[in-house]
Amino acid sequence: MNDTVLVLNGPNLNLLGQRQPEVYGSATLADVEALCRSTAAEFGLQAECRQSNAEHVLIDAIHEFRIGTAGIVINAGAYTHTSVAILDALNACEVPVIECHISNVHRREAFRHHSYVSKAATAVLAGFGIHGYALAIRHLAQLRRAGG
Ligand code: DQA
Repeated sequence: MNDTVLVLNGPNLNLLGQRQPEVYGSATLADVEALCRSTAAEFGLQAECRQSNAEHVLIDAIHEFRIGTAGIVINAGAYTHTSVAILDALNACEVPVIECHISNVHRREAFRHHSYVSKAATAVLAGFGIHGYALAIRHLAQLRRAGG
């Protein structure tokens, strides 16, 4: 197992900080990625941060990191609620998958209450703001320690 964590952000998360700041806060995607890199480094891990608005690019990234890594942190954005293809890719993962949402999706519209990603996730975080990404990486580090 290598020491890399994939942090994968889906559609519209490139607009963090500009998009609905009342829901998602003022931090930018660059802030999220810096937080992930520094948190990973604290635990001797490396965060590989990717973002795409395209479903197939997200799937290709999952394929790339699905075996032999320290795990995947995924915020699939709206694809969380719609994408069987992303679920299928995550089901092919041999590493732990942590689902992360900045907002508390359960407090929002009914269509955000169902997650395909959750069906393949080891754990789910929602409503912690961008701190959720750091918690997810911390948990992956703990799983890694426990596993070997
Ligand atoms: C989100 C919640 C989703 O419902 C939404 O489509 C997003 C962001 C979150 O981080 O809270 O794009 O995943």
